[in-house]
Amino acid sequence: MSASKAFVVGWPIGHSRSPLIHRHWLRRHGLAGDYVAEAVPPEAIAGFLGDLGGRGYVGGNVTVPHKEAAFAAVQERTAVAARLGAVNTVWLEDGRLCGDNTDVFGFLANLDEAAPDWRRGGQAVVLGAGGAARAVAYALAEAGFAPVWVLNRSEERAEALVRQIGAPLRAGGLAALPARLAEAAVLVNTTSAGMAGSEPLAIDWSGAGDGLLVTDIVYVPLETPFLAAARRRGLRTVDGLGMLLHQARPGFERWFGLRPDADAALRRAVLADLGG
Ligand code: ATR
Repeated sequence: MSASKAFVVGWPIGHSRSPLIHRHWLRRHGLAGDYVAEAVPPEAIAGFLGDLGGRGYVGGNVTVPHKEAAFAAVQERTAVAARLGAVNTVWLEDGRLCGDNTDVFGFLANLDEAAPDWRRGGQAVVLGAGGAARAVAYALAEAGFAPVWVLNRSEERAEALVRQIGAPLRAGGLAALPARLAEAAVLVNTTSAGMAGSEPLAIDWSGAGDGLLVTDIVYVPLETPFLAAARRRGLRTVDGLGMLLHQARPGFERWFGLRPDADAALRRAVLADLGG
C-alpha cells in the first residue's frame, strides 16, 4: 500500500502552519505519509474536493475561504459540522466524501488542557460573529455555559448567528459588553480587531469579576493586546495557539490512523516558526 497523503486547502494558503504540525507528527510517529499545502481559488474548490482520490489524497483540512463550500461538497457530515454549516476536515470513507468541523473540539481541548477547572457553567461572552465565533459559541454551549452572549460590532450579524445556532445563544452589540462582563465566567475574542496593524478593541474591564477566564483565538502574537490587557487587570488568560494544535488532531487520526498529542515539542516548533 502506498503512503497516505493529506492536504490543507485555502486561498491563499502560504501562511498555514498545518503542514508543519502534521509533518511533525508524521516524523514523530515514524509514518511514511505526507501532508501538503494546496492553493485553490473559490471557482475551483468544488472540482478539487470532488476528486480527492484521483489526486492521490486520503483527505485533508479546509481553511478560509472554503469551509462553507466544503460543507456543500461533502456527502456525509458529522453532527457538529451540520449544525455549524462549515467543514474544516474531510476524508474518504468507502469512496464517499465525509466532513467534520474540528474547531469546536480544538477550542474545548485547549481550555481543558490550559484551565482544567474551566467548565463551571455560568454565562459566557463571545466577541465577534464570523465563522470562528460560530464554532466558539457552539462550543461554549456544549460545555454547559448559558446564556452564551454573542456581541458584535454589527449587531445584525450577531443576531443572524444566534438564529442559526439557537438556544442558549443570545445576541447583542459591543456596547453591551460592560454590563455582560459582570456576570461572565468566560470571555472569548474572535474578532480580527488588533490584527494586521488595526486598533485592538478598547475594553472597559472595570466590571469584570475576578474569576473571569479570558481567551483569544488569535495566536500571532501569542499574547494579543486583548490578552495583555486582561492579564494586567489580574485575570486568568489562555492563548489561542492550543486551539490550532488541538483542532488538527482528529484529522490526523482519520488520515493516518492514530491520534497524536499537542505536546510541548510541537508547541515549541510552531512558536519558533511564528517567530521566524
Ligand atoms: P472569521 O470568520 O475568521 O471569524 P470574519 O468573518 O472576517 O472572520 O469576522 C471578523 C469579526 O471581527 C467580525 O465579527 C467583525 O465585526 P463585523 O461583523 O461588525 O465586521 C470583527 N471585527 C473586525 N474588525 C473589528 C473592529 N475594528 N472592531 C470590532 N470588531 C471588529
